[in-house]
Amino acid sequence: MELVFATNNLNKLREVQEMLSNSIKILSLKDINCYDEVDETENSLEGNAKLKANYITKNFGYNCFADDTGLEVESLDGKPGVYSARFAGEPVNAENNMQKLLSELKNKTNRKAQFRTAVCLNIEGKQFLFEGICKGEILTKKQGEKGFGYDPIFKPEGFKESFATMSSEEKNKISHRGIAIQKLVEFLNNYK
Ligand code: IMP
Repeated sequence: MELVFATNNLNKLREVQEMLSNSIKILSLKDINCYDEVDETENSLEGNAKLKANYITKNFGYNCFADDTGLEVESLDGKPGVYSARFAGEPVNAENNMQKLLSELKNKTNRKAQFRTAVCLNIEGKQFLFEGICKGEILTKKQGEKGFGYDPIFKPEGFKESFATMSSEEKNKISHRGIAIQKLVEFLNNYK
């Protein structure tokens, strides 16, 4: 079976293909000649994941899945959430996003937060949703050089240091996206 992963991130693509049995071939957007930008206009992670997966299924006719991730901070009522990428405005800038978050949390004692990933799968006319959560807290300053986005200021529960100090292998085992993709892969490997 062929299945499109609606992402332009080749690392994510490779990761998923490695986890799947050989009977499922993952196609990139480039593989199906899709160069369209799908605006993430919904106000939830699930909504945006559905939007992206539905766009491909409707316009290109493929079985497809898409993901969307946000950082939800407890004392900010779940912000930045679905707006994590553009928290500090356009153009997208991870450093500015982190500085804005650190400044909004300056006088807060509750620094609990979680990354949440929603994955939407469209397969043979049916739709399935998967979720992955990684709980942790926002540090008071940056730590580590690896990763991307908010990694330097997010410390996962049960660990001493930020995501940005971990190898991608280590991070994938416990991360929101790793957990959501693992659920998707288990579902697909048992499909039919
Ligand atoms: P996306 O849905 O994977 O594109 O993620 C949206 C935004 O959430 C990104 O632009 C990052 O700011 C943030 N983000 C998503 N996943 C991670 C992660 O694993 N570490 C740090 N930041 C992340």
